[in-house]
Amino acid sequence: MKINVGVIFGGDSVEHEVSIISALQAMENIDEEKYKVIPIYISKDRNWYTGESLRDMDTYKYFDSMKKYTKQITLARKGDQVFLEKVKGIFRKDVDYIDVAFPIVHGKGVEDGSLSGYLETLGLPVVGPGVLGASVGQDKVVLKQVLAAYNIKTPKYVWFYDYEYNLNENNVIDKVEKLGYPVIVKPANLGSTIGISVAHNTDTLKKAIDEALEYEAKIVVEEMIPNLLELNCAVLGNYEYQETSLIAEMKTGHELLTFEDKYLGGSKGKTGSKVPSKGGMSNSKFDIPAKISKEMEEEVYDMSVQTYRALNLNGVCRIDFLVNKETGEVYVNEPNTIPGSLSFYMFKPKGKSYMELTDELIKMAIKDYKNNKKKTSSFSSNILSNYNAAKGFKKGVK
Ligand SMILES: Nc1ncnc2c1ncn2[C@@H]1O[C@H](COP(=O)(O)OP(=O)(O)O)[C@@H](O)[C@H]1O
Ligand SMILES: [Mg+2]
Repeated sequence: MKINVGVIFGGDSVEHEVSIISALQAMENIDEEKYKVIPIYISKDRNWYTGESLRDMDTYKYFDSMKKYTKQITLARKGDQVFLEKVKGIFRKDVDYIDVAFPIVHGKGVEDGSLSGYLETLGLPVVGPGVLGASVGQDKVVLKQVLAAYNIKTPKYVWFYDYEYNLNENNVIDKVEKLGYPVIVKPANLGSTIGISVAHNTDTLKKAIDEALEYEAKIVVEEMIPNLLELNCAVLGNYEYQETSLIAEMKTGHELLTFEDKYLGGSKGKTGSKVPSKGGMSNSKFDIPAKISKEMEEEVYDMSVQTYRALNLNGVCRIDFLVNKETGEVYVNEPNTIPGSLSFYMFKPKGKSYMELTDELIKMAIKDYKNNKKKTSSFSSNILSNYNAAKGFKKGVK
């Protein structure tokens, strides 16, 4: 019998559309001899839908008029199975069921562990990161703190909340200026490129902070890595096994040496420096494999696996690196715990097809779920039998 795979995508995130593209592409690359693919779309207003028409890009171009060809559903656990239950109508009819969830979502509110947590609570095998890895991967400050514990280098930084800045602006500015200009100002959790800008002096720093504060209360300011080369390396695996992809090099790094060169041109942002969207990643121009030395290659592979393990990740994660071409220093910029296109293009030249990648991911999620279940179910507690609600705990039981 085929395994039912619920591919869940969309959600209330600025990367909603990128998620649709990633998911439609992935669904075409799941082996339908083995698996039944069930699309589950979360609209921007957080309603959930299913139906074959959700595999067609045109459906999303006119979703308001096309949604009549879909069914609005919710996930409901009944007994030991998770069903797609129709929301509308008098009878809560089950449309289908899923054996495994395959979330392909990007950005805050979905990729940050919210969706993994919900699916894990329902008791489903889930492809990709658990709550911990997804949420640590999302917060640029917590990420740095965790990586520092493993001596994994990230750019120097200062972070603060909006109220601290409002209370004592000069204090925050002083701390930031110790990093030395130029600096790059980012909202800590956005997970897309919105609200990021570069500052060269106190004046532009204040503007950059104001802009970032429009999006979030937690801000991180980093030193700018000069002579920038950007590398990506994906890791596929789980807690006990990790396989790296080839390393990709962003071609833009060759032509445009500074951040300003890359992003300032033609921008009309308040601070003048906008960053292109992460969604463009899969369409961007890469060199695969990257044209770097053997030593740097080894360093990037090593840092990728260490980062993956430090964050307790599962599934495929693309780790982005910043390199100072002059000094050869390599820094982790950020992990993308559910990368655009699932980074299939970085595994393909290694001989792993997109279909083999999704097959491995699904199998791994089911295997890990089963192993995990064995561990938790072997624990039994008699705490309730010792508890007397009227009198409190029995003597001797804390
Ligand atoms: N410390 C830095 N030094 C130089 N360039 C940076 C630095 N941080 C970010 N960038 C540039 O800005 C881009 C977006 O930053 P990133 O932290 O990846 O934000 P997002 O989470 O929005 O993708 C990077 O791909 C890189 O080109
Ligand atoms: Mg990025």
